[in-house]
Amino acid sequence: MPLSSIPSSAVSPVTMAADLSAARVRTLALVAHLPSADLERQIDPILSPLVWDLGHIAAYEDLWLVHRHGGRELLHAELAALYDAFETPRAVRGDLDLLGHADALAYLEEVRVRTLEVMDRQGVDPVLHEMVLRHELQHTETMRQAMEVAGLLPAGEPSLRTLALDGAAADATGGWLDVPGGRFALGAADGVFAYDNERPQHAVEVPAFRIARRPVTNASWLTFAEGGGYVRREWWSDEGWAWKEDQDINGHATVAAARAHAAPGHAVCHISWFEADAFARSLGARLPTEAEWERAATWTQGTAPTPMQHVGQVWEWCSTEFDAYPGFAAHPYPEYSEPFFRRGYRVLRGGAWATAPRVATTTFRNWDLPQRSQIFSGVRLAADAVPSHPEARS
Ligand code: AVJ
Ligand code: FE
Repeated sequence: MPLSSIPSSAVSPVTMAADLSAARVRTLALVAHLPSADLERQIDPILSPLVWDLGHIAAYEDLWLVHRHGGRELLHAELAALYDAFETPRAVRGDLDLLGHADALAYLEEVRVRTLEVMDRQGVDPVLHEMVLRHELQHTETMRQAMEVAGLLPAGEPSLRTLALDGAAADATGGWLDVPGGRFALGAADGVFAYDNERPQHAVEVPAFRIARRPVTNASWLTFAEGGGYVRREWWSDEGWAWKEDQDINGHATVAAARAHAAPGHAVCHISWFEADAFARSLGARLPTEAEWERAATWTQGTAPTPMQHVGQVWEWCSTEFDAYPGFAAHPYPEYSEPFFRRGYRVLRGGAWATAPRVATTTFRNWDLPQRSQIFSGVRLAADAVPSHPEARS
């Protein structure tokens, strides 16, 4: 990694210890109400047993902060493969002899003691410690996905039902924001922590476009579904149609549930990329590219902040396939991004109610497969710019 991308200001061990501790309090609070049986069962083949996430968080911290940074032996070398995301993929995590509930909690605690000892002696690595901290925060979002599927979220978790969007519920955009064409710097600036896939920051030319002021609501989605959204072939990509037919998808369960809860004005959630794409086409619109999304999210007009509203309620699908930026260099954890480039994953931007604010920066790139809907994913529409003088186009 070029030196210039290492954060310049050192973080004190006291601050980092407090931040790591706050993240841990948050992790443990999420599962405190669950009996061991719910922590140990696999809820869905595409999601891990919750107790795997706990062991994995501990193993990852021990690997990077105690072994690699501190130069010490691993606490449990015999568990390294079991809790490595690649050696033990999600689908098999339910069949393994994982640490049970109490042992997983003890593993987390024993590693943390070691982490603090190493940090006392050797200080904070501005990349590794921040990476491990955000890793734990990211896993609590994946855990929330599993917990939502299983109906296990604790009482008082933020609920989309409490977050009404502005404007008429049935309007799919909340009004368009017209963003002029121009060059802007895509990606994370030097001197701040960012993942490898956000670097290097580079100039991109983005033609003028329009982007919705707010995400699509449940009411809009119902209009789409009831207006032939899952029947009209012309609104779907070939791949999306094949997936929908194969899976026999005729509507959207979560949207139907939202109707039952009378939440028409809230952001639609658990939408797959294939559905998001079809929805946009049904309105003569499209999904934003990720460059458009970041341009709109970072664009300021003079001193006024960008009027792109309600970022951070649901992840927003982009049309872009997840790929490296030009000049990409894997660092420091080579399996974080690179194995997922150009494998059909689509980019999501912005963050959801379940995302820790420390993770959800304007340059952060999330990704998932186009058929997935366990993620807290919604839609913000985009469209090509309308020429102000139609004759200018002729
Ligand atoms: C960035 C959310 C796609 O969960 O697969 C966690 C984050 N990477 N451990 C994922 C991650 C390694 C990653 N996402
Ligand atoms: Fe992980």
